[in-house]
Amino acid sequence: MPSSFSGPAIVALLVAQTVQALPWYHTKPSHQVPAQDYYISLGPRPFYIVNNMTESPLKKKLQSCENGPFKITDFSIGHRGGATLQIPEESVENAMAGARFGAGVLECDVSLTADKGLVCRHSLCDLHTTTNILLNETLAAKCSIPFTPANATSDASALCCTTDITTAEYLSLCAKMDGFNASATSVADYQHGAPTWRTELYDTCGTVQTLDSYIDLVDSLPGYRNFTPELKSGSYDPTAASYGTFPANYTQEDYARDFVQAFIHKKIDPQRVWVQSFNPADIFLWIKEFPAFGRQAVYLDESGDTPETYVAAVALLPSLKTKGVNIIAPPFNYLLTAGGPQNQSIVPSSYAIAATAAGLDIITWSFERSGPLTEVKATGEYYYSSFADAVHTDGQFYEVLDILVKDVGIKAMFSDWSATVTYYANCFGLEGPKSEDYI
Ligand SMILES: *[C@@H]1O[C@H](CO)[C@@H](O)[C@H](O)[C@H]1NC(C)=O
Ligand SMILES: *[C@@H]1O[C@H](CO)[C@@H](O)[C@H](O)[C@H]1NC(C)=O
Ligand SMILES: *[C@@H]1O[C@H](CO)[C@@H](O)[C@H](O)[C@H]1NC(C)=O
Ligand SMILES: *[C@@H]1O[C@H](CO)[C@@H](O)[C@H](O)[C@H]1NC(C)=O
Ligand SMILES: *[C@@H]1O[C@H](CO)[C@@H](O)[C@H](O)[C@H]1NC(C)=O
Ligand SMILES: *[C@@H]1O[C@H](CO)[C@@H](O)[C@H](O)[C@H]1NC(C)=O
Repeated sequence: MPSSFSGPAIVALLVAQTVQALPWYHTKPSHQVPAQDYYISLGPRPFYIVNNMTESPLKKKLQSCENGPFKITDFSIGHRGGATLQIPEESVENAMAGARFGAGVLECDVSLTADKGLVCRHSLCDLHTTTNILLNETLAAKCSIPFTPANATSDASALCCTTDITTAEYLSLCAKMDGFNASATSVADYQHGAPTWRTELYDTCGTVQTLDSYIDLVDSLPGYRNFTPELKSGSYDPTAASYGTFPANYTQEDYARDFVQAFIHKKIDPQRVWVQSFNPADIFLWIKEFPAFGRQAVYLDESGDTPETYVAAVALLPSLKTKGVNIIAPPFNYLLTAGGPQNQSIVPSSYAIAATAAGLDIITWSFERSGPLTEVKATGEYYYSSFADAVHTDGQFYEVLDILVKDVGIKAMFSDWSATVTYYANCFGLEGPKSEDYI
């Protein structure tokens, strides 16, 4: 080095280099196809819902939007893909349909395999109902609990976990609609049993995904799409009969780190990634160790399902904000309650009011997971349980969404049929959460 370089000059040079250093991630999707060259297609369902609404200013407004234009919006999050109402969850085909429906953010639930692979599956132990694993004798033999046929006194049963098999074995499976036939006396009959308002029309060997292949897929989709991976949790009790049991010496913390590292390895901009978990320890690990991901982490909350635990969940909200959580995501039955004469009006709940007062942004789930709204009261359907007296017909899908948007102030909605949410979001110009708000 020439002796004429003085110390301070070197420092200045280093500082200049630091300031000019490029971010470690790509700032744009790698293979972006312009959104204007890609047709967002919503199908008949949004129009069916609007048509069933009773006359109101909301109906008029939604009718005025029937010819679009419709564009991709981050308000619309594809739940387990974006077309889970009809297409096998977590599959490539489901994500492609969610993308076509204009979902700006697509979900992969991240489960773990025996060789520490990360794969898109909603639960570590749902392979017996969401894939054809039982039809493969070699893989069926590896299931935590093998298939037992139904008899006069017991339902058919099985329990097959991603941790029972390797990633290569996982990739040989077909994704199918989640369901099982409790009366089945053979594995062939056990495959069926999705609710009648879903369909098995696309049970033609859905393509299963790893977390890596999901990242590549979402990154390559036309338009600018974002990611919402959800970290699942493994076993419960390592001494119990194995289910969802982690490989030796591999912990939930390792899993939480590998999950984020998958995005870092692929140089995905953290602002495109909305990491989620129901497990508070995962969220706090990300806030501490991966702050660029942690600051926009989505804290999933299902801790308030009974009247007592609901009160506790509401009381906890301010402390979450204090600990660095910015986004809370409860199911939408936590956010609404029935009021007024005969409980016929739908209003924000104490949870919704407390979350907003605590400075938390709200994302919620999952729209279009419940079947016809004519039946939610009779069946005690979870997502409508806190205001079921007020729900009678399918036209109310948009009334419920409108109350969540205008009175609760949700930033985004997960949906099993993203077209429904995309239509509403476009009509009202909703763009979804902005990553910049969390920096
Ligand atoms: C909506 O559908 C229900 C049947 O589910 C029907 O009874 C009602 O008349 C419809 N409302 C409108 C406005 O079309
Ligand atoms: C029915 O199945 C259950 C559970 O597999 C088993 O414990 C029981 O013995 C069976 N009953 C008969 C009559 O086979
Ligand atoms: C069962 O799965 C194994 C492992 O993935 C695979 O090698 C084999 O071909 C499969 N068998 C059948 C009949 O599909
Ligand atoms: C359920 O299984 C039973 C017994 O195997 C069979 O008779 C019935 O047809 C099956 N139902 C469906 C919907 O597959
Ligand atoms: C797990 O860790 C323990 C203690 O660090 C070590 O003795 C053991 O060999 C490890 N087991 C495996 C399978 O890596
Ligand atoms: C309204 O709902 C609340 C809570 O479920 C219930 O206690 C009350 O009886 C309902 N009121 C009417 C008039 O149905």
